[in-house]
Amino acid sequence: MAATKTKRSDLAINGGPKAVTEDIPYVGFGVYELGEEEKRCVNDVLNRKAVFRWQDAKHSYVMRFEEGFAKKTGAKHALAVSSGTAALVTGLTALGVGPGDEVIVPAYTYIASASAVILVGAVPVIAEIDDTLTLDPQDFERKITPYTKAVMPVHMRGIPCDMDSIMRIAKRHNLFVIEDASQCDGGTYKGKRVGAIGHIGCFSLQASKTITSGEGGVVITNDDHLYARAAIAHDSGIAFWRKLSEELAQKVTLQAFAGQGYRMNELAGAVAFAQLHKLDKIVAVCRQRKKELLRDIAGAPGLKPMRVPDPDGECAYSANFLFDSAEEAQRFAQALSAEGVHVHTIHNEGFPDRHIYKYWDYVLNKVPISPGRDPWRDPRYQGSVEYAEDMCPQTMSILTRTVAVPLNQRMTRQHTRLIAKAIKKVAAGLYG
Ligand SMILES: Cc1ncc(COP(=O)(O)O)c(C=O)c1O
Repeated sequence: MAATKTKRSDLAINGGPKAVTEDIPYVGFGVYELGEEEKRCVNDVLNRKAVFRWQDAKHSYVMRFEEGFAKKTGAKHALAVSSGTAALVTGLTALGVGPGDEVIVPAYTYIASASAVILVGAVPVIAEIDDTLTLDPQDFERKITPYTKAVMPVHMRGIPCDMDSIMRIAKRHNLFVIEDASQCDGGTYKGKRVGAIGHIGCFSLQASKTITSGEGGVVITNDDHLYARAAIAHDSGIAFWRKLSEELAQKVTLQAFAGQGYRMNELAGAVAFAQLHKLDKIVAVCRQRKKELLRDIAGAPGLKPMRVPDPDGECAYSANFLFDSAEEAQRFAQALSAEGVHVHTIHNEGFPDRHIYKYWDYVLNKVPISPGRDPWRDPRYQGSVEYAEDMCPQTMSILTRTVAVPLNQRMTRQHTRLIAKAIKKVAAGLYG
């Protein structure tokens, strides 16, 4: 069907025939790549009964995963932990963030980014996102106070943040940068792997991520001292010191302190190790699918693909479009969905999506973990952060005007052709 000849009545939402009648896989990533290699590695762990990383340290999958992850990201050190949240808490602890400090987080990220800040006793300060769906560098700078210790740029939905601006501002104000790359494992910014640009980078290996170990996380850094602190912070025991003492004793002198129980176990390590080999391929296929789709729909009326700080480096987990109004975004999304394409409108009124700050109830209400663990009322905190559901109007405006068409590595060229056909049909029907 020629897009320009499409009439409103041709649209499936108005009773016309659907553009797509076959099932297109709309979720993907690491969990769909679990296979023989993972089974072999897990069976090896079980056969050796070596489920704890220090049991058979020489053959540890956790250690091999860490070495491989460090190599892939170009970071000097990688530390595997039990979740993405654990990675953030470990990273913040390594940086020495605690009571009295503020950490700037974007208004659009999974709530764990903010809760990790609270867990170390610091106060999250919420900043706007811009039309890239990631931290707005200008609002980040506006939100800096004398109490700001760190900023946490979050590479949301596989989109690398504007790291040049963020690093420049952080440097000017002497702030730590802890990247939350949980949703962008495999992404790059100007040729550098995300997570390896700031002082610390954190990843999640939870089941919806690029690669997975069911639950898991990684902390990366180029700094020996931060790595040693992170290693101590993630393990209350001294076992880690064997490796640390071998590798780092010449470079850092550190007093151990109370750590968490965030070690990664060997079963998770075995899966993560096997998945690591699949990471680049998953991202490469997603990038290819996005390129095809954007090329196919180029010139379609009324469509504005959203800005990406480094289009070559994004993981390309969705093609995002920004509309002039929330109503227009809804109209387009509903029409495209009726054509048989899976669509995500990011912000659905009434659904308490914990990726959006206004649904971070325990943050906005400053709910303490316990009476003694209350970052906002801690006498060491001299700041005066206030929260409100409408405090980030720019973020809400962008999210309500965004329509995302999810992409994944299970899609084929034929699938992107079909999606493009549906998008062009809807664009022509609504705006042609
Ligand atoms: C941006 C972001 N940060 C942190 C996390 C927390 O990771 P996890 O669920 O592994 O603790 C997630 C994952 O869900 C995430 O998407």
